Amino acid sequence: MTTPRTGDLLRFITCGSVDDGKSTLIGRLLFESQQIPEDQIAALKRDSRRFGTQGDAIDFALLVDGLAAEREQGITIDVAYRFFSSQRRSFIVADTPGHEQYTRNMVTGASTADLAVLLVNARTGLTVQTRRHAYLVSLMGLRHVVLAINKLDLIAYDQQVCRAIESDFARYAAKLGFETIVAIPMSALRGDNVTTQSTAMPWYTGPSLLEYLETIDTRRLPQRGSVFPVQWVNRPTADFRGYAGTLAAGELKLGDSLRVAQSGQLANITRIVTGDGDRSAAIAGDAITLCLDREIDISRGDVLSRADLPVETTDQFEATIIWLHEEPGLASRRYDLKLASQWSGASITAIKHRVNVNTLAEEPARKLDLNDITVCNIATTQSLAFERYSESRELGGFILVDRYTHATVAAGLIRHSLRRAQNVHRQSLSVDRTAREKLNGHPGKVLWFTGLSGSGKSTLANALEVELHARGIHTYILDGDNVRQGLNRDLGFTDTDRVENIRRIAEVAKLMMDAGLIVMTSFISPFRGERDLARELIGPENFVEIFVDTPLEVCEQRDVKGLYKKAREGKIPNMTGVNSPYEAPLAPDVTVRTQETPLAESVRALRKLLESAD
Ligand code: ADX
Repeated sequence: MTTPRTGDLLRFITCGSVDDGKSTLIGRLLFESQQIPEDQIAALKRDSRRFGTQGDAIDFALLVDGLAAEREQGITIDVAYRFFSSQRRSFIVADTPGHEQYTRNMVTGASTADLAVLLVNARTGLTVQTRRHAYLVSLMGLRHVVLAINKLDLIAYDQQVCRAIESDFARYAAKLGFETIVAIPMSALRGDNVTTQSTAMPWYTGPSLLEYLETIDTRRLPQRGSVFPVQWVNRPTADFRGYAGTLAAGELKLGDSLRVAQSGQLANITRIVTGDGDRSAAIAGDAITLCLDREIDISRGDVLSRADLPVETTDQFEATIIWLHEEPGLASRRYDLKLASQWSGASITAIKHRVNVNTLAEEPARKLDLNDITVCNIATTQSLAFERYSESRELGGFILVDRYTHATVAAGLIRHSLRRAQNVHRQSLSVDRTAREKLNGHPGKVLWFTGLSGSGKSTLANALEVELHARGIHTYILDGDNVRQGLNRDLGFTDTDRVENIRRIAEVAKLMMDAGLIVMTSFISPFRGERDLARELIGPENFVEIFVDTPLEVCEQRDVKGLYKKAREGKIPNMTGVNSPYEAPLAPDVTVRTQETPLAESVRALRKLLESAD
């Protein structure tokens, strides 16, 4: 271990289960490194008497459990970053909560940290939560762990118990690839081995936590290459054009030849501008604006690198996904993906397995539930500049965002690009859609009928097809009950299967439209997201969404197939409208009310609509 330079900064996180004593530990670190102003100490003494759990003594946990709600519940519920320094080093500590639902905060805290202090309650030993956090810490690329075995005062400073926990952890962590694991027995409450060595455990001769944190060297090998994600294009006047961002890795200097990862274009650096004026070079972490010697097409999200060390691009890769939202993640559903400053549409194309955090065993999974850690294949709509997460946090870590609520639903870590991304290319064909449409005498289109089972989608599509066919128009109906007996025979009625059902239908409808047909699809298609996806895929100008708006009561009265009756008897678990949701269209192109309008009239209106669109 080499002693780091005085004044350098260590970023670490604390994690572990709810009652392992994190807040008390951090409170004591802050207090004993004398970072607490006098007035705050007075307030702390007052609060300790009022809210504390330590009688008249200071309750250090109150120092960091800043939120009122936390005090009332006695738990920590948000990531808090705190700065403190000792004689030898400065620290930023991310205090991350231990409750299962706060994995999100844990991931956030870990993403910028160099070391994790993993607390274990000596009385309970390792818990599922300790293992989950250790696993997350390793996934997030942290290489150094302090196993803080806390509350030793409660087990009479028993060495055996401590050693047992230590070896238990060593066994679990053997596969996690940490560079250093150091166990420190302590009592945060009593101050044993936090900032000073304890006399209560003569059997422990190692450093206190603070001493260890002051001296550990977490520096990584400098990264190969240089990576500059463009955050925005700065063009204040006609004669200045600069590309602003933070150099994510490596070094750049004047004259370096750069390559745009996405387009392959080249240019040389003519200026490196910073808040303090021009510079001749920049290193990772610097916020800079680059000027180039020629005008090339660069926009926000582009990634520049040194031309001799190019960054790869991909639109299909394997990744570890940590699901962070109550609403489960489904294969085939479209999300927004953000990687560095790049945005793209993305979907999970395969869920390969879920990791059991307790045993590290790989288990099958059909969907991604809150806190699940899975390995998935991802496909993106844009080609993205990337690196493996193990090589670069900046270009290997991404988030998935819900397209409607904009909530972050998952964190992802790229494992590797899929070879198929490089090996499949679109074949260009001579007879195209326009040629086929000319031959047919009408354009291809998709009429997308959506509504509850029994709403009358198929009846309507069928009647319309008869009319169109009679007029020499080339048509085809894709119907749920029929397609589910062939192409989609493998799919049932879970949310996951319905999403995949609609994805395939959208793809097939697109092909048939390309073949020059008027395609009518008759599927419940209960989810707004997948209908929107179909619209995007097919092109809004070719897509007519027809909402067959028959109330549930009416569909249930009709009950042509007897399914509603069965569902009410509890024999069908996912019947749309009964125990599975239907998200009605917010802005359909056409709404048909079958119980108000005669069939022939609705058919005529649809036919008119088609004719006017020609
Ligand atoms: S979708 O939700 O995936 O779009 P789809 O339109 O393909 O459904 O299939 C719906 C048809 O399957 C219904 O018209 C009905 O005949 C039948 N069906 C069988 N089980 C269910 C169920 N649980 N929910 C809805 N429809 C069901």
